[in-house]
Order: sequence, then structure tokens, then C-alpha cells
Amino acid sequence: MMDQAQSLRQLVSSQESGRPKSEGTAARIITVCSGKGGVGKSNFTLNFSLALKAMGKKVLLFDADIGMANIDVLMGVSPEYNLYHLLKREVDISRVIHTGPNALPFIAGGSGMDELFSLSESDLNYFTAQIGQIADSMDFILFDTGAGLSKETMKFISSADDCLVVTTPEPTAITDAYALMKVVHNAHPSVTFKLIVNQAGDEREARATSDKIRMTANRFLQLDISFLGYITSDSHVVQAVKQQVPFSLAFPNSAAAKDVHRLALSYLAADPADTTPLQGIRGFISKWLKRK
Ligand SMILES: Nc1ncnc2c1ncn2[C@@H]1O[C@H](COP(=O)(O)OP(=O)(O)OP(=O)(O)O)[C@@H](O)[C@H]1O
Ligand SMILES: [Mg+2]
Repeated sequence: MMDQAQSLRQLVSSQESGRPKSEGTAARIITVCSGKGGVGKSNFTLNFSLALKAMGKKVLLFDADIGMANIDVLMGVSPEYNLYHLLKREVDISRVIHTGPNALPFIAGGSGMDELFSLSESDLNYFTAQIGQIADSMDFILFDTGAGLSKETMKFISSADDCLVVTTPEPTAITDAYALMKVVHNAHPSVTFKLIVNQAGDEREARATSDKIRMTANRFLQLDISFLGYITSDSHVVQAVKQQVPFSLAFPNSAAAKDVHRLALSYLAADPADTTPLQGIRGFISKWLKRK
């Protein structure tokens, strides 16, 4: 008898071969993670998604913080349906994708993420087919994960095209970010990391933070990590969180908003040919299924 993963792999590969190849069909899958909690992943992911969207990209934001999903709170919206309802087949994908500020499409985590890992074969097939339907129309799909390295976060990281690691200049955040990359690297040496230093005093501090991590990873893991950029420590972020409006929209002229805009430009400027070829959502799902 076929197991669940085998059957879904077949579904994925049959969809792949049946899909006409054309430019722009593969969405780039980005997982955002951190070692230490509370370093600013969710704020970064939300505002980075908005910046990419403002640059004309089609972006889907997916709250994959299992158990502690809160992207919807940062946007001040209360979605009626979340992933849980999709997995339970109470609604189809069109009802689960909500529209955030500036028409940013997002899928709220709700309490549903726990369910993803104990789905029946037919539930999983349904989920994959539903996600596959919308993924083809996206340029980027961003997953905001919870802090640290749960089994599920490891799967998200190792299955995505890009892993963005958020740290702050605090020694505890630095050591936790390094520890996370070390564990991922040892298990999945092909994963490449891009570093974001959040809550930096200034560029010099951000670069010093990044250099510490990059030099240590280079020396002890023979791993090259790139520095994508930094976001200044800015009280506007705190204010925006309280107002439940993304900081780049509430305070577009703030230092943090300018930094995240620059980060998105740098990200888009990096030549995709430098990295692994885009695999799209079906590649992501088929890799996901191979992960133990
Ligand atoms: N650039 C910044 N400047 C000032 N404060 C910031 C900045 N980024 C984040 N913060 C503060 O850190 C808090 C936590 O941010 P956020 O929820 O994005 O972190 P997180 O990494 O997603 O947390 P968790 O690990 O719990 O998911 C924010 O509510 C805000 O008060
Ligand atoms: Mg978060």
C-alpha cells in the first residue's frame, strides 16, 4: 500500500508534468527564521512582503508560526478563516487568503498549523492541490516561522529556496542564530543563509554583528553566509505594533521603513542565477515530503 508521502509525491509530480512551462510560473519560497525569539521576524516578514509588493511583485505571506501565529494582529485584521479551516476542508483556498493592508494577500496561521502534521492522505492531497492553485500566480511566498528550530521549522527551512535569518546585535541572539544555522547546516548542507540584523544601533553595529556570525560560520563550519542588510532600532516600530499597522505604512519616512525598503531592493538585486534554480511550490512540497 502506498503511504501518505508517496501518494502525495505522485500527485505533485503528475501536476508538474501536466503544467505548461512558462516564464514566471515558479514562486520563490522564502522562509524567515531566528534562533532567539522576539528579534523581529514577524515585523520584518510583514514589512518586507509589503516592500516587495510595492515594487510590483506578487507576494503571498504565510503565517507558519506554529501555535503563536500573530501576523494578523500586526495588521489589525481578524480573519474569519485560517489554515485550520482549509485543512478541515470547511472552506476552499479562496476563503483562507485574506487581504491585508495595501492588498497584501496572506494566510493566517490561527491554531491550524498543528493540524498540518497529522493530516490524512486525502486531506494532504486536498491541501497541496489548493495551495498549488494559487502558488502559480505568485512571485514570492514568504513563511514567517516561530523562534528556534522545531521539527516543522526545520522542514520549512530545508524545503525553501531561501532562508533569511533574523538576529539582533545582542550576544544571546547572535549565539542562537549561529546555533540554528549550525544545526540546519549539519542536517542539510545545501541550505544557504542570508542574514538580517534587526534593531541595530547603526550600520557599523549591524556589520560588526554580521561579521561575527559570518567569520565564525566560515571558520568552524566552512559555511558562507551573506549579509542581506539591517533594520535600525526605531521606536516607530514599537508604536506601529501598538497601532496594529505595519511600520512601513504607518511611518513610511521612519528609519526602519527606509531600511526595509533598501533590504527589499538588495534582495531583488541579488542575481537569482547565483542561487539554486527556483523550484516553486510543488518543489517545496515534494522536498517537504522527503524530509523526515
Ligand atoms: N527595528 C525595531 N526597532 C525597535 N523595536 C523593534 C524592532 N523590531 C522589532 N521590535 C520590537 O520587537 C517586538 C517583537 O517583534 P516581532 O513580533 O516581529 O518578533 P518575532 O521575532 O516575530 O517574535 P517571535 O519569536 O515571538 O515570533 C516588536 O513588538 C517590537 O516591540
Ligand atoms: Mg513572530
